[in-house]
Amino acid sequence: GAVVLVTGASSGIGAAVVRRLARAGSQVVAVGRHPGRLARLAAETGAAALPADLARPGAGRELAERVLARHPRVDVLVNNAGVGWAGRFTEMPDAVTDELLAVNLHAPIELTRALLPGMRRPGGHLAFVGSIAGRLGVGGEAVYAASKAGLDIFAQSLRLELAPHRITVSVVVPGVVDTPFFDRRGQAYRRRRPRPLPPERVADALAAAIARDRAEVYVPGWLRLPVAVRGLQPAVY
Ligand code: NAI
Repeated sequence: GAVVLVTGASSGIGAAVVRRLARAGSQVVAVGRHPGRLARLAAETGAAALPADLARPGAGRELAERVLARHPRVDVLVNNAGVGWAGRFTEMPDAVTDELLAVNLHAPIELTRALLPGMRRPGGHLAFVGSIAGRLGVGGEAVYAASKAGLDIFAQSLRLELAPHRITVSVVVPGVVDTPFFDRRGQAYRRRRPRPLPPERVADALAAAIARDRAEVYVPGWLRLPVAVRGLQPAVY
């Protein structure tokens, strides 16, 4: 099967994507920060586990080198790893800002740059997990929203550039998904956003985009876009 690299695989959406694609017969390389959880996922699914921290500059390039040492090429790259931070912009520590931009934006760009030259043409697929926050803006998540908007428009621009090479670029834009990411926002947030999506829904949408070579998937979750525009803009927390 195709060689698929999934970042942020040790929990949530990433783990669901690994399970889904491994079941469909892909050769999955699961990248994450937690070796123990990755090893359990690997034992369960047959995926290869590759622990890596993507928060340092150059980490995306190093990861690509480690992968290419074991596989001649990567057919599908799923840029899923991401971190959030909920709170007032003026209270956000510099170190958290740096980490967030490194993991959410810098690492996927580095990984894409390093893996793209070897990708199958046609047949290569670059998938990015964006966020509704990056489409609408969310008070209390300004830097997170900016990182996701950046990733989203990076992907859309790359799609134009890569169309002649027949490499597909997809962006999945989930609403609210029931993962540790969501849990970290706390009970008050959970009361306001009562119906998160199961991560398997996002994994299914991503798998369908990859299988059908679809360019974009929108996963609305508990909200529909017009509701989101009204409901999310005043959502400062
Ligand atoms: P999660 O917290 O379970 O998963 C995030 C993954 O990224 C984890 O496996 C984590 O280990 C990995 N990661 C974080 N920092 C890393 C680092 N320095 N190096 C390597 N890996 C690192 O949460 P979830 O929800 O599964 O998040 C996956 C993606 O979905 C993220 O990009 C997130 O922004 C996005 N998303 C999540 C939504 C939600 O409501 N849960 C909504 C919209 C988008």
